[in-house]
Amino acid sequence: MAVKEMYRMLNFADLGDERGKLVVIEGNRDIPFDIARVFYIYGSDPTVVRGQHANRDSEFVLINVAGTSKVRITDGSNEAIVELNKPRQGVYLPKMVWKDMYDFSEDSVLLVLTNTHYNGKEYIRSYEDYLKVMEEGNNG
Ligand code: TYD
Repeated sequence: MAVKEMYRMLNFADLGDERGKLVVIEGNRDIPFDIARVFYIYGSDPTVVRGQHANRDSEFVLINVAGTSKVRITDGSNEAIVELNKPRQGVYLPKMVWKDMYDFSEDSVLLVLTNTHYNGKEYIRSYEDYLKVMEEGNNG
């Protein structure tokens, strides 16, 4: 997978005015999928590493709506590291990339949007298994 296929930065419009900022994310308009699920991660400190999985079906958009964190993305050969530090900026992650989220600031609230309802079976949580699947090209 080319690095540019592993992730895409998204910059959302600010619809704010003198009363404050407003960011709107519409499925299939501002992000490349229909939103089926929303969750958010907070209360993780800088020593924690979250994620550590690949997903067969889920695509994600991650946004630090408060605070900062980092996302490491790999396909087993290439690697990219993205810093999330603006409520107006997100990162889109396609299916079958391996991701780690870490370096959470104390005030970090990491919002996650995805195209699927939760299904633990579509998660690959062993990096060894992930590498095997990628080598076999059996990731469709
Ligand atoms: P996990 O996938 O480890 O979180 P992260 O990838 O953000 O580090 O999820 C932690 C637990 O929560 C795990 O037991 C599965 C459960 N969970 C759900 O039930 N539904 C969900 O949508 C998510 C993301 C997790």
